[in-house]
Amino acid sequence: MGRNVLWLTMNNDLEGLRFFIHTFGCQMNENDSERVAGILSRAGAQKTDAPEGADVVLVNTCAVRKKSEEKLFSLLGRLASLKTKRDFRLGVIGCVAQLRRSELFERNPAVDFVFGPDNYLELPRLLTQARVDKFVSTCWSREWHESGPESILRADRTSAYVTIMEGCDNFCSYCVVPFTRGREKFRPLGDTLAEVKSLAESGYKEVQLLGQNVNSYRNPQDGQSLAGLLELVNQIRGIEWVRFITSHPKNFSPDIARAMKDCAKVCHQLHLPLQSGSTDILKKMNRGYTKDEYLATIESLRDLMPDISLSTDVIVGFPGETEKDFLETLGVLDKVRFTNIFSFRYSPRPRAAAARMADDVPPEEKKKRLIELQNFQKSIQLEINKSFLGRRIRVLCTGRSKKDAQVYSGRSEAYQVVNFRSARDFIGQFVEVQILSCGPYSLRGEARD
Ligand code: SAH
Ligand code: SF4
Ligand code: F3S
Repeated sequence: MGRNVLWLTMNNDLEGLRFFIHTFGCQMNENDSERVAGILSRAGAQKTDAPEGADVVLVNTCAVRKKSEEKLFSLLGRLASLKTKRDFRLGVIGCVAQLRRSELFERNPAVDFVFGPDNYLELPRLLTQARVDKFVSTCWSREWHESGPESILRADRTSAYVTIMEGCDNFCSYCVVPFTRGREKFRPLGDTLAEVKSLAESGYKEVQLLGQNVNSYRNPQDGQSLAGLLELVNQIRGIEWVRFITSHPKNFSPDIARAMKDCAKVCHQLHLPLQSGSTDILKKMNRGYTKDEYLATIESLRDLMPDISLSTDVIVGFPGETEKDFLETLGVLDKVRFTNIFSFRYSPRPRAAAARMADDVPPEEKKKRLIELQNFQKSIQLEINKSFLGRRIRVLCTGRSKKDAQVYSGRSEAYQVVNFRSARDFIGQFVEVQILSCGPYSLRGEARD
């Protein structure tokens, strides 16, 4: 009933095939690569750690900025020269695949096939064929295609991404994502809950619910919202921290804030992309909120949760951005005091509306603004992190330092990186850490039993 499960019964058709996946881009791409690895493994193929040992090399790509695409083309150049020494099949998947399609064969003739994000369930069928010649599969689907929770081959054993929606209907004027991920589609709530339960049973402690615009989530069966989904995930035994990303300020409704406050496991941490602190630029970006509306959302969140940790995305040098507009962005950073930011120089993207505006902020000016913004934010982060000195905080330990076997690393509830010394191995567990020192990008301390 309304459930669209596209099971491919592969019966080990890919037995003996070795594959390697290189991943660029966001959390959704990381999650997708693990899903592709799961789909291929379920068909009998085996994942390798380097392209040198593989029969199939897949590159999962990101199109969001010009630089992301440039990195892809330089990797494809290296893979093309490896292909002259030993034969393997080269596939481009992900957002650049969806955007550029057969153009990729012209850009690099070593590419054998191109698959968009809605087509991964068909990959095993293609790879059973003896020859794969310039094959393109980039059909968008309006429906959610469930691949089954067990089909994800995850690297991390502690924290897991769980996709709840895909696509975007917002058409921010700078952004290519609506043209790479298509229209919004939502995962049936029951499938999400089943995946979270199975993660909890396997010992995972944290889930991060993923989507391009999770605030617009609606269960296809009964219209249940993100707030309702958070309440249900909050009840799953074994999972102790729940996060969700990415939120859009214009869809951040009070019921989501209320669910964050009321659900004990939902972290008081939120990524809320600002993009610009100037209302004029926000209008040209088609963001659907003003600077004051953004600040009002932050204020109401802080009223409800005084301890909330906020992070954001900022673009500098958008068409028409004046020094005054830029100073307004710095002003918002000063007011909000984000725990972390991701900041980028604007680059025009194909099909995005802003590509038709004059890219009139000179490259040196974009660079100067980015450095100024990052330095300003660095001083804010250092102050925030210093306020943690001497405190004991709860950390979810996810790994060990490569340099020193007694140093472990993890994240705080505020999503700060925490490195700490410990005689005991805490990987996969929560640990109380006494914070002893810090920098702008991390906290350091010692485990307390
Ligand atoms: N769906 C998410 C992620 C979008 S991409 C969201 O809406 O937040 C991640 C970030 O890349 C964006 O938030 C934006 O800051 C940045 N970005 C997107 N397009 C860009 C472009 N053309 N130039 C520079 N940065 C861009
Ligand atoms: Fe891009 Fe805007 Fe959609 Fe985010 S909300 S993916 S920035 S169009
Ligand atoms: Fe990049 Fe596609 Fe994610 S463009 S940011 S990989 S949705």
